[in-house]
Amino acid sequence: MSSQTHQSTDPRHIGIIMDGNGRWAKKRGYSRPKGHQEGAKTTRKIIDACRELGVRYLTLYAFSAENWSRPDMEVKALMELLEFFLGRETKALIKNRVRLHAIGRIEELPEQARKALNKAMEATAHFDEWHLTLALNYGSRQEMLDAAKGFAKSVACGETDAEQAGWDDLARHFYTKELPDPDLIIRTSGETRISNFLLMQSAYAEFYFTDVLWPDFDKVELEKAIACYHRRERRYGKTGEQIARPTTVSPLQPSA
Ligand code: FPP
Repeated sequence: MSSQTHQSTDPRHIGIIMDGNGRWAKKRGYSRPKGHQEGAKTTRKIIDACRELGVRYLTLYAFSAENWSRPDMEVKALMELLEFFLGRETKALIKNRVRLHAIGRIEELPEQARKALNKAMEATAHFDEWHLTLALNYGSRQEMLDAAKGFAKSVACGETDAEQAGWDDLARHFYTKELPDPDLIIRTSGETRISNFLLMQSAYAEFYFTDVLWPDFDKVELEKAIACYHRRERRYGKTGEQIARPTTVSPLQPSA
């Protein structure tokens, strides 16, 4: 994550809080894992839709640092689903030239899921056009703490001068250091919380909330979110008149 000067009106990076799998399943008398399986099908379709719509970066909140507190059976089902998803999706990612990234405390994931993830990331590491990031065992506060520790270490070893340090010197310790900031954050299922997702990175993002449950979300719903994004005016603290007639670009101005 760094300061960028991306000026396109299209969102370059979309983050999605994929919510509502449980309610989707409950409404149909299914188990919660069945809801997650349906959610995984939507995930697959939205990865393709993003490419078709020219969205180069997609970040999906697949498992939060707080999700470990769910019933053991559900956590196990989610980890198995992740492994299954990666096993099936890697070929498609390679075919479509999509690079897979992961953010979060990946080292704490079960071994099998971690292995599948590392394998898929290695197999796609040379691509640079399309980027899919899975937030796994992710939480922004944990990320901030890990970044603060990394920053403190770089100060202690003399690599960084704490007095002279700017935002980028801290941001290069975030899990998202290779990604631009998100332009648009979508949350499905009617909840209007950010739930510890990309808190620092979404400082200038637009937010879009929809009542649609994640298994029912599709390309049409994604297009609605992008259309809504296009109607927003992103001002970064400036006046509307300044945005209409841009002068100089601030070094701290984030993407788009
Ligand atoms: C939130 O819905 C969803 C999750 C905690 C998991 C998200 C996982 C998927 C969409 C599965 C596929 C993804 C991958 C990458 C394998 P919820 O269970 O909290 O729904 P509820 O609020 O209706 O109970």
